[in-house]
Amino acid sequence: MSETLLKVEGLEAGYGEVQVLWGVSLAAVRGHLTAIVGANGAGKTTTLRAIAGTIAPWRGRILFEGDDVTRLSTHEKAERGFALVPEGRQLFTTMTVAENLELGAFPKRAARAYAERLDQVFTLFPRLAERQRQLAGTLSGGEQQMVAIARGLMSNPDILIIDEMSLGLAPVLVYQLFQTLKKLKDVGLTILLVEQNVHLALAVSDYAYVIAEGKLFTEGRPAELSAMPEIRRAYLGL
Ligand SMILES: Nc1ncnc2c1ncn2[C@@H]1O[C@H](COP(=O)(O)OP(=O)(O)OP(=O)(O)O)[C@@H](O)[C@H]1O
Ligand SMILES: [Mg+2]
Repeated sequence: MSETLLKVEGLEAGYGEVQVLWGVSLAAVRGHLTAIVGANGAGKTTTLRAIAGTIAPWRGRILFEGDDVTRLSTHEKAERGFALVPEGRQLFTTMTVAENLELGAFPKRAARAYAERLDQVFTLFPRLAERQRQLAGTLSGGEQQMVAIARGLMSNPDILIIDEMSLGLAPVLVYQLFQTLKKLKDVGLTILLVEQNVHLALAVSDYAYVIAEGKLFTEGRPAELSAMPEIRRAYLGL
């Protein structure tokens, strides 16, 4: 059975006076990888920020496990099980890998089983175990993305929300990161992912949404989207 964990209805948001989102609706099914794709400036990051609470939604509703969480702060959402891995990773570059991971464990829900979670992320990313004492700013781009994901996992989330995971990374590393996401899905984690690379998004997701100019353009299973002439032309370069 597919159970909807997160439901977003008619989300509107923006910055200052400028409205960016004009009614975005989407759902994330528990244990699935849901992708959001769209051109630069379409409003993907803004959608994730409004969902995670880093900006306040103007209108619309966000439901999590059936509860209305629209107005909760980022902290309250983190306690409910939201983790955002932001665009550009946003690590504390002058702190070590271990310190960045520790900061990820700020919600109360993460205090229990801290040591086990640390073990889990080091099992997922052995490279980080080797580099625990290295300053995050001196890591490679790929290693920094591992830290960003691992930091999100340290909060013991139910939903991991990732903005542009593959950007700037070598294909082999991107492949490894998606293998890692697959393992996380297999243990029941829900993933909501924004991805520039539409080919990749459709290859790895269970369901995808296409956003254009702050509105939902279309949605579907990857195979359905890949077959649509307008998607093939505009997003897949076919
Ligand atoms: N902090 C901000 N203040 C003002 N405007 C912003 C801010 N962040 C984004 N915007 C504007 O909101 C619109 C949508 O931006 P957003 O970052 O959500 O797009 P995106 O789909 O994530 O794009 P990209 O693929 O380039 O990451 C853009 O016009 C952008 O200029
Ligand atoms: Mg973005």
